[in-house]
Amino acid sequence: GATEARVRVDFAVIGSGIAGLSYALDAAEVGEVAIVTKARAFEAATTYAQGGISAVVDTLDSVDEHVRDTCVAGGFLCDENAVRVMVEDSKAAVETLIERGTRFTRDDADGRLHLAREGGHSRHRIVHADDMTGKEIERALLEAAKANPRITFYEYHFAMELLKTRDGERCAGALVVDEARGKTIAFVASSTVLACGGAGHLFPSTTNPVVSTGDGIAMATRAGVAVANMEFMQFHPTALYTGEGGAAKLNQNENAFLITEAVRGHGGRLYNAEGERFMARYDEREELAPRDVVARSIDSEMKRTRAPCVFLDITHVDGEEIRRNFPGVAAELDRRGLDMTKQRIPVVPAAHYMCGGVSTNENGETSLRGLFACGEVAYTGVHGANRLASNSLLEGIVFARRAHDSWERDTRREIQRTMWNAAGIVRTTAEMEVALLKLRELATACEERLSVTKGYTMQLAEVMNLLDAGELMLRCALMRKESRGLHYTLDYPEAVDDEKKPTFIADGATRPSL
Ligand code: SIN
Repeated sequence: GATEARVRVDFAVIGSGIAGLSYALDAAEVGEVAIVTKARAFEAATTYAQGGISAVVDTLDSVDEHVRDTCVAGGFLCDENAVRVMVEDSKAAVETLIERGTRFTRDDADGRLHLAREGGHSRHRIVHADDMTGKEIERALLEAAKANPRITFYEYHFAMELLKTRDGERCAGALVVDEARGKTIAFVASSTVLACGGAGHLFPSTTNPVVSTGDGIAMATRAGVAVANMEFMQFHPTALYTGEGGAAKLNQNENAFLITEAVRGHGGRLYNAEGERFMARYDEREELAPRDVVARSIDSEMKRTRAPCVFLDITHVDGEEIRRNFPGVAAELDRRGLDMTKQRIPVVPAAHYMCGGVSTNENGETSLRGLFACGEVAYTGVHGANRLASNSLLEGIVFARRAHDSWERDTRREIQRTMWNAAGIVRTTAEMEVALLKLRELATACEERLSVTKGYTMQLAEVMNLLDAGELMLRCALMRKESRGLHYTLDYPEAVDDEKKPTFIADGATRPSL
């Protein structure tokens, strides 16, 4: 039907998990943000993430090792550069979450972050909040976002289509249905962010919440935006088996209950229906092999033994220790009449994570200007053919931040490229004149950006200062019609006596002072 209302904002964020909330909190420092989310805001896959967020925080760990583990798990299809970008930012990502109120589990002895281990990781590097990490992160970020006067939540608002500018070259926002009133609202925004998760409900059994129906990827593709690697759907090896037909028997309003991989990281063993511990037959990393390997091995055992599930056993570990480490899982199992400290838990694989998605560069930019994607909906290249455990929360926060910073970063890169080409070691008048025009173009773009950000941010101010410095450098260089010392131009290759004096510019400020 006809659009009945219009909401104008600087940033329209679709989705309210770790990626959307992180982006919103960054963006709110410079503008008005609308978070459009189709259910209650906490109903995001983030809330159900148990294991944690992988990060290089231990002094014995290294970026290289985390990068290598990610690429090995990803079947060497990862974009190594993107992986490195993500891993290098991992410590800062955890610090940001802490600043925003997340309470992670700490070691009793020295108060340092407690690190768990999961499949595919060569070290203990999973920062977590008991076994309810996502729930704690979502709580903290939601509280922070709800307290922020520049962020408005539109819960029970369903984003239907992306809007484009008349020339089709830019994303202009999204068409959204207010579910309670049934009216359509056009959210018009300078930046639109897809952060609305995956498509677990493509499969009968999934660990994803009911909201994960591929909305973002479908909207993006209808708008002609590039998508990649959709064949790589990750099945988590160990969702709770709930009777005949497995987790598949659940009605469509319930997701399969996940038994975190950290249980295997803590020594949990897999047994088939015949009571055999089978993983060693498939992979020398046994229960801690990457997820695709473990899920395939379980599937093969279930078929071979004609059993509807396999069993996860951690009863050899002290009961109190299990309950201390996995309070969320233990309580949920208790509720269902299963005691994980005393009995093996029936488990089956369930659809868990979409490794492909809306294709982005390392700044979260999609193929449509003004449209960004981050979190599960995005394909950043970090997961390759199989995501490493606990890299998803990390990806969400790192690329959300980069998406927000990308305007300044890209502009900065363009300045550097321009200066290196025109005002590097060997110069020409023609190149310097073109560069001067380019810098002035970028300065105009900065003025526009300033109207979006409604004030200077440090990043924007730095970019504008670089533009001023670049312009001065080019103008002085154009004034010096000789080559002397560091200034070498092909147009005037010799030193000239008449030019043996300083260049001097004193035409005052070209823009309002900070
Ligand atoms: C889990 O806790 O096993 C899930 C972790 C993840 O999917 O990365």
